[in-house]
Amino acid sequence: MATLVSEGSSPEVLTRTPEPGEDAPLAPLYERIADRILGSIRDGILVAGQRIPSVRRASEQFGVSITTVLEAYRRLEDRGLIEARPQSGYYVRRTLDRAPAPARTASNETAAELTLSDLVMRVIHDWSQPGLMANFGVAAPSPALVPTTRIDRLLCREVRRHSVGSLAYERPLGLEQLRVQIARRALDVGVTISPDDIVTTCGAQNAVRLCLETITRPGDTVAIETPTYFGLLEVLESLHLRALEVATFPEHGICLDALDEALRRHRVAACVLCPTFANPLGHCMPTEKKGRLVDLLERHGVPLVEDDVYGDLTFDAHRPPPVKAFDRTDNVLLCSSLSKTLAPGLRVGWTMPGRHRRAVERLKFNSMLAVPTPTQLAAAAFLEEGGYDRHLRRLRRACADQLARVSDVVTRVFPLGTRVSRPRGGCMLWVELPEEFDALQLYESARAERIAIAPGPIFSATERYRNCFRMSCAVPWTQDVERAVERLGKLAGDQLR
Ligand SMILES: Cc1ncc(COP(=O)(O)O)c(C=O)c1O
Repeated sequence: MATLVSEGSSPEVLTRTPEPGEDAPLAPLYERIADRILGSIRDGILVAGQRIPSVRRASEQFGVSITTVLEAYRRLEDRGLIEARPQSGYYVRRTLDRAPAPARTASNETAAELTLSDLVMRVIHDWSQPGLMANFGVAAPSPALVPTTRIDRLLCREVRRHSVGSLAYERPLGLEQLRVQIARRALDVGVTISPDDIVTTCGAQNAVRLCLETITRPGDTVAIETPTYFGLLEVLESLHLRALEVATFPEHGICLDALDEALRRHRVAACVLCPTFANPLGHCMPTEKKGRLVDLLERHGVPLVEDDVYGDLTFDAHRPPPVKAFDRTDNVLLCSSLSKTLAPGLRVGWTMPGRHRRAVERLKFNSMLAVPTPTQLAAAAFLEEGGYDRHLRRLRRACADQLARVSDVVTRVFPLGTRVSRPRGGCMLWVELPEEFDALQLYESARAERIAIAPGPIFSATERYRNCFRMSCAVPWTQDVERAVERLGKLAGDQLR
């Protein structure tokens, strides 16, 4: 939100009333004023060396006491953002230069047979410990961002309304009203599909697994972006598949030249990508590149399993189309869920497996029989009754805001040479430090201070990225969160000294 704060501003532009449905801000007044000024610095409206309103003027403009303004300015001074100049006033000390983006990653020469360590499970256990000061581990909306009351109400209402039906097995394809809603939303992003070509699943990870198990055989090689979501690596390992890590740009995804070369040199059975706001790099593949990716994979006869769980979490006005929207030869198996946009505990996911639909449906049936009906009913009602888009707008705003705040603090407090990703959607940052940095050591020392992060090696089939870590930013901004990022910066700095 660009809020102009400078000498000469009229009071009206300084006051923003909450939008309908938006919660009233709860932060103390001085913090809200400090935030307005920070917002203006972040948006480049106030630049380094520029004078900000005098204390007296700000107190008139904001309609607050001089003590409140002084407290706000003191906080900005503490954060190194403004400075008091004797007899002159307060000035912007430094503009928030953004840390550079991480470097392009490299391909692996050979496809790795996976023998993952216990690290992932240890990390996941740690993330679910009670009493964390800040949880930058879990990549899903924090409970504060989940519309709990509404979901509770819909769950009760739908179970009552459908009575015995809500407790019966669903049809093998999944609940029809949910598939209708998914097909409707797919149309909005350029995917024309019949509800009967959708199979509901127990989340996106289950969808990816069902698709991969259908189109590969043990021992096959699967091309993936690197770094990649650790849950995918777990799936590959359990299906006895080999992972071929392909060079990836942190801003626009897998390198198509490197993928082309990998597909020439190796017999690849499938490619799995998360092209729209990937985990962990956050990149979004440009639309034109998605078209070229489809052509390339088609030419090599390699199917794509597209993981689109973060696609709806765009920070721009319209969400980018999935790769599936460019698929004319039925070569893309799209997988998604409501885990990142509504609530992960619902376990509502789906796949559009194209010509593999029957095989995927059968595998779903013989591996788990069915997925729970009540949560599918509630999810269908949520999508149908129009609350989803409003909820999404609020969630996207919260994610964009929190991501920008965390990124600002990382830029300010992490050692020189730190690189940070710049996603335009999703909820996570990828932080890369100089080669000698050890993210596992940071993980342990942060853990001792009740701060959770995701260390880089869990995102690689070959435990690369020891100097990197991922921070999920889907947590509401609080002083504890800010202090936790500052603490991480200090711990990282101590390690590199
Ligand atoms: C890229 C990606 N795919 C799939 C999942 C799992 O999604 P679900 O909870 O719907 O199974 C995650 C969760 O972090 C993810 O990041």
